[in-house]
Amino acid sequence: MIKRSKITGIGHYVPENIVTNQDLEKLMDTTDAWIVERTGIRQRRFFNPETDTVANMSAKATHMALERAGLQAKDIDFIILATITPDYFFPGSGVLLQRELGLKEIGALDIRNACSGFIYSLSIADQFIKTGMYKNILVVGAEIQSSAMDLSDAGRTVSVIFGDGAGAVIMQPDDRPDAGILSTHLHSDGRHAEELYIKDPGSSRHVRLNKDMIDQQGIRAHMNGNMVFKHAIVRFQEVIKEALEANNLQKEAIDLLIPHQANLRISNYVQEQLGLSDDKIYNNIMRYGNTTAASIPIAMSEAWAEGKIKENDLICLAAFGSGFTWASALIKW
Ligand code: COA
Repeated sequence: MIKRSKITGIGHYVPENIVTNQDLEKLMDTTDAWIVERTGIRQRRFFNPETDTVANMSAKATHMALERAGLQAKDIDFIILATITPDYFFPGSGVLLQRELGLKEIGALDIRNACSGFIYSLSIADQFIKTGMYKNILVVGAEIQSSAMDLSDAGRTVSVIFGDGAGAVIMQPDDRPDAGILSTHLHSDGRHAEELYIKDPGSSRHVRLNKDMIDQQGIRAHMNGNMVFKHAIVRFQEVIKEALEANNLQKEAIDLLIPHQANLRISNYVQEQLGLSDDKIYNNIMRYGNTTAASIPIAMSEAWAEGKIKENDLICLAAFGSGFTWASALIKW
């Protein structure tokens, strides 16, 4: 029998530095009311350049996940790290996490699928466990977005949305029939790659980075907010329905939907369209902003700690973001 995989421990770490909307009001022409109304965000965490790296935030989230799984770091036999904000241009931060955790020479894979990166990573780990190749996989989503934000008036549409943090899960084989990760569903549409992206530095140019690129804001995140919003509300619903149909389940069966924390308005719209009551969706974007690949594991970790994820619950994860990419996972906990 092909084994399924299950999540046996979840953890998270967010930098100590809390940046409120009122703090942003002092830096740019914005208001708490505008940010709350358009995004639901009240505060986010920004990293400390003296102490925080993507790799060490990932390691801190990992230690919490390991403790909750009852495992030690040496038990991990493979690492998957989802981030679009690696510490270096290369190598990826997966190897830095392996070094940070003091692990033997196990494989470390980096995934760059932005907001969908954590579910893509979960899906890859699921396949490795089903084939029997690995038994204790560490899957992490971690981002330092704040260092790419333009905190002046010019960057206000993007910079009020994003935050920093890390979340981690431990995945292991599940002996129960019909439980664990039931299915994962992955999609992309590269026609919209430039609607949400950072252009520079890039390899397909004569010089990877020069003053012009910096002056023209190529190193800042560019977002067509309206376009992202319109696609997100459709794709979230589609990919959740796809997951339910693949398992012959109805939306009423969902015990908790944990959407990627893109924007509270997007999550509220999806909740309304699916007819889910408030206790069947988990949102923490108010406290952390959009932490890209880290948002789902941070939310899962908090939801679990609050007792909102229990054995045999049906948990649905869904994400949409840059690429565009979108994805879902259905889990019988
Ligand atoms: N504070 C105050 N005003 C701001 C602002 C800010 N931080 N950012 C933009 N504005 C202004 C604009 O300049 C514009 O002013 P104008 O009417 O004088 O031209 C006005 O607010 C409306 O701007 P607009 O861009 O049309 O706002 P919007 O209603 O589309 O909201 C987003 C902008 C980004 C909040 C919205 O498009 C959105 O939620 N998009 C999805 C983003 C997302 O989820 N991204 C993550 C995907 S993973």
